[in-house]
Amino acid sequence: MSQKKYFVTTPIYYISGNPHIGHLYTTTAADIMARYHTLRGCEVLFTTGSDENSQKVVLAAEKAGLSVGEYVDKEAEKWKQYFAQFHIEYTRFIRTTDQDHLDVVQQYLLQLKDKDCIYKGHYEGWYCVDCESFWTDKEVEDGLCPDCHRPIGKVAEENYFFKLSSFQDQLLDFYRDNPKAIEPVSRYNEVVSMIKGGLRDISISRHSQEWGIRFPFDKEHVLWVWFDALLNYITVCGYKENPEMFSSWWPADCHLMSKDIIRFHCVIWPAMLMALGLSPAKKVYVHGWWLTDGEKMSKSKGNIVDPTMVLDALSARTGIPKALAADVLRWFMFRETSFGDDSVFSMERLLDRYNYDLANDLGNLIHRVSAMTTQYFQGNVPDAKIISDEEAFFTDQIFHYLRFMDENRFKDAIESVWNLLRRGNKMIEEYKPWELFKKEDTHSLSSVLYSLLEGIRCAGIMLSPFMPVFSKQIADSFKDQKNCSLGVGFLQTHQTVAFPSVLFPRVPKKKVDEKKESKPPSKDESFCSIDDFSKFDFRVGQIIQAEKHPDADKLLILKVQIGDCQKQIVAGIAKYYEPTELLGKKVVVVNNLQPVTLRGQKSEGMILCASHKDQLSVVTPEDGAMYVGARVK
Ligand code: MSP
Repeated sequence: MSQKKYFVTTPIYYISGNPHIGHLYTTTAADIMARYHTLRGCEVLFTTGSDENSQKVVLAAEKAGLSVGEYVDKEAEKWKQYFAQFHIEYTRFIRTTDQDHLDVVQQYLLQLKDKDCIYKGHYEGWYCVDCESFWTDKEVEDGLCPDCHRPIGKVAEENYFFKLSSFQDQLLDFYRDNPKAIEPVSRYNEVVSMIKGGLRDISISRHSQEWGIRFPFDKEHVLWVWFDALLNYITVCGYKENPEMFSSWWPADCHLMSKDIIRFHCVIWPAMLMALGLSPAKKVYVHGWWLTDGEKMSKSKGNIVDPTMVLDALSARTGIPKALAADVLRWFMFRETSFGDDSVFSMERLLDRYNYDLANDLGNLIHRVSAMTTQYFQGNVPDAKIISDEEAFFTDQIFHYLRFMDENRFKDAIESVWNLLRRGNKMIEEYKPWELFKKEDTHSLSSVLYSLLEGIRCAGIMLSPFMPVFSKQIADSFKDQKNCSLGVGFLQTHQTVAFPSVLFPRVPKKKVDEKKESKPPSKDESFCSIDDFSKFDFRVGQIIQAEKHPDADKLLILKVQIGDCQKQIVAGIAKYYEPTELLGKKVVVVNNLQPVTLRGQKSEGMILCASHKDQLSVVTPEDGAMYVGARVK
């Protein structure tokens, strides 16, 4: 049986623009789809690129003091480097100045002429250089572009026209027969009513322009940049050079974009293909916009979010390397909002999500499982089978994940991974491996640890389209794991496993300025005044390391994270807690106690515990998500 193919594209971006989070969003979505379909065993073609034949390129080159050729070469490198930082692995970055593209465009124009789909006429109307769009008098108010609202000019010249109007019925038939050809359905309805509203023939050439692709049969004219740009989708799969390749890839499985350019992709582009008897793409998927102050970001409005600056900030705040920070941003963009919806970027939200989901749920689970595997099984995957209830739960989550990924419901797919991770953390609380260890119930302990490790392995694979660097770290932690199948029960036993020691350290949030109320001191000696109390600095801390004191049976040596600092605390609780049981626990710490040395180990604080007769329990904040470093008062 031949390998299934999957072909996904992004728009090709105007080369003179500055890449921002909107461009990254579409391209990361395509990268996610490409990685996911590769994981599913498909051969994948994923293309992105630069749109270089527009008029604004000439102006930008002039401004930069370069020839147009020099300018586009330099800028294309910039876009490629930009995407590389975010682990985008396209099959091809097409530039519309590439020779094979020029050849395709010229062949296409000759075929269009042969099919009698173009004619020469006179164009008089508005043209917006920034949007590279023609507009009618009806559409233009006060001389402003209806799309970008910038002042635009009128042009009057002899042009070639494409007979778009003659494809109206064919387009309507196509959309009637393919109701999933545009998603979400709101966009499908928008396009169908646009077509029903009537189509006019469109001007596809510029007479007065120097830069661009010349008509092969009329050197006076260069092609309208949108006509040229749309053809990139058939250049990349060998339309002219390799007909065999072309027929094996076309029609594309998915064109990705946001709503600004659906008229071009859902009306003009399919008609251009129909003109040559070719099928339109199987799907156009339209995602939402990243907004600032309720508006779409754009360079001209000066309101763009630059993801490279987000990477710098994230890496500085968390201490994680930039490669991992890029994974975090990729994941966040799809974790935060449903793919079809608009979204507003906020660094605060990103850090909250990082703390709750990555540091807490994911990082904690790996940390705890890693410590227990080392302590109970010398760092080896135990010889066991997965617990059948857990197997059923994990399998269910994988099943949902696959369905959501197939439907581009990335937020829901990520939620399935988190269901699995949260179950892992719950399992630790429920099965209490430290008690199984104490009871020497090796059989149950092995099954619990095996199940947890299998959960982490599966989650790592499920996250691979979103977080490729992190996912590889997890895969590499299993020494002999050759099989990276996404399915429960594939984890090989007996191999060693060594997870990275620090993955996603918690980010201390900016300290809130606490005002102390000044109250008169208490006169009653038996009471402690509010002033006495306020001398104590109680904080929420999180235990990130725990081990037995080498020279004292009753003591544990704990490393506790409090805000941005870590403290060593020696606590007399060894009788009540196994060290691994405490890992990841939130506790209340007396943060400003005079440091002391206990049996040779420095202790820089105290952990609050409730005790009664022979029982002892550490005090923990009720809200498990409470910020580490929060003041207790
Ligand atoms: N060159 C044309 C596309 C030709 S494709 C044959 C073009 N270029 S563009 O640089 O303006 O890119 C537009 C695309 O970038 C959008 O359709 C979307 O994919 C992405 N985004 C740009 N800004 C965006 C947001 N603010 N939010 C989300 N994505 C947006 O149009």
